[in-house]
Amino acid sequence: MQTLPTQEHFSVAVSALPYQRNDWKKGYESQPNEYDYWIDDIEGKIPAALNGTLFRNGPGLLDINGQRLHHPFDGDGMISAIAFNNGRAHYRNRFVRTEGFIAEQEAGKILYRGVFGTQKPGGWLANAFDLKLKNIANTNVIYWGGKLLALWEAAEPYRLDPKTLNTIGIDYLDGLLKEGDSFAAHPRIDPSCDYNAGEPVLVNFAIKAGLSSTIIIYEFDQSGKLLRRQSRSIPGFAFIHDFVITPNYCIFFQNAVSFNPIPFAVGLRGAGECVKFEPEKPTRIVVIPRDGKAPMQFLETTAGFVFHHANAFEQDGKIYIDSICYDKLPEVEPESDFRNVDFEALTPGQFWRFTLNLNEQTVERQQLEERCCEFPSLHPKNVGRPYRYLFTGAAHNPTGNAPLQAILKLDVTTGEQQLWSAAPKGYVSEPIFVPRPDSNQEDDGWVLTVVYDSTRHRSDVVILDGRDLNGGPVARLHLKHHIPYGLHGSWTPNVF
Ligand SMILES: [Fe+2]
Repeated sequence: MQTLPTQEHFSVAVSALPYQRNDWKKGYESQPNEYDYWIDDIEGKIPAALNGTLFRNGPGLLDINGQRLHHPFDGDGMISAIAFNNGRAHYRNRFVRTEGFIAEQEAGKILYRGVFGTQKPGGWLANAFDLKLKNIANTNVIYWGGKLLALWEAAEPYRLDPKTLNTIGIDYLDGLLKEGDSFAAHPRIDPSCDYNAGEPVLVNFAIKAGLSSTIIIYEFDQSGKLLRRQSRSIPGFAFIHDFVITPNYCIFFQNAVSFNPIPFAVGLRGAGECVKFEPEKPTRIVVIPRDGKAPMQFLETTAGFVFHHANAFEQDGKIYIDSICYDKLPEVEPESDFRNVDFEALTPGQFWRFTLNLNEQTVERQQLEERCCEFPSLHPKNVGRPYRYLFTGAAHNPTGNAPLQAILKLDVTTGEQQLWSAAPKGYVSEPIFVPRPDSNQEDDGWVLTVVYDSTRHRSDVVILDGRDLNGGPVARLHLKHHIPYGLHGSWTPNVF
């Protein structure tokens, strides 16, 4: 007997797409509430050996008292903490109480211009020549040196209490930063640094962009003490969101962009909307020795636009860099609404490998995966080292541009793949790989990701087995509410 298709099957068949934009955009509704509860609605079983805390950051508000933000990157940072302890999990979220968050919540209206085009009400006249920045602390969150820090690349970190998520205030890193200094949102942790007796080191950078730009690199030991700092000047404007490290180098992709500040200054566009991609120009790869002494080197390639790198490593006298590349920078138009984005009209992020030969000053590039992907992650012990397994957010379909609905595991040495997909109703966020304690196998651990379930308008914390993504979730923790699509986060073995 033939059964009639359900409405869900029918709509998927008609659109031939694994997602519906109306489902997807509900994940960008604000979450103004702050919660604190034990998660008791669970499918499957939380592994008893999974102990620690997953911290996530991302825009919690997509509007201020009903006034819509122009872009999610302008949303106030909201930290989620999911603490795993002996088979149980606890959820807590708090907004970072930045100066701007407090002021706007008290005023009940938008008081600041956002970097990505959010304007104060009243048109360009109300915005012209207002160049002050709102530190929104919304991009990443790390626990290092006993401090929980919310990061946003254009300003100082905000420190929070890791247990309560209460905001302590701006953190100047024991006087390293001055008021108004920036600190990137993409630190890398070198798992074993010779310079630090084989112990881990956190490496991060700051950019001062201008006609020529300055890259400052910081390296901290596990207590948060500064081990090394260096400053390098590079020609031209730099819009650099992420970088990669190897034991000997920090490597930056200087995307081919120009910056015209005038529309920003006169109140017509956000500063981020004044960055223009220059597709006819090469990407410059800046290779900076971590010792701070040897000269830096510049190489050129065609890379399109890169937000995120997966990893880099040195082998056989060469440097390998794996990155997510876009043909062009997705530009934000002033009059557009990001909720109505036409996914198919944009180019997908795709996974590429760049091979640098410093002696011969050459760069070769090779596409490793065609599928649309973003938010790459790997075993923390392989950061800056040769590695085999990449975990990344990915589209459900193998080709074309689409929202992230799946987690892809890619064996970068053989091309073998595994995929777990939450389509058609689920939308994934950045996966974080957590190694199983006492295991040396690179994929032996869990992949944690927050999935927006558009059917219930709630989010799930999904635990996948790193060895077998195809087998589906080990556990699915149903939250009582949704978390708007987030950006980055991190894992710490400390249970908070
Ligand atoms: Fe990022």
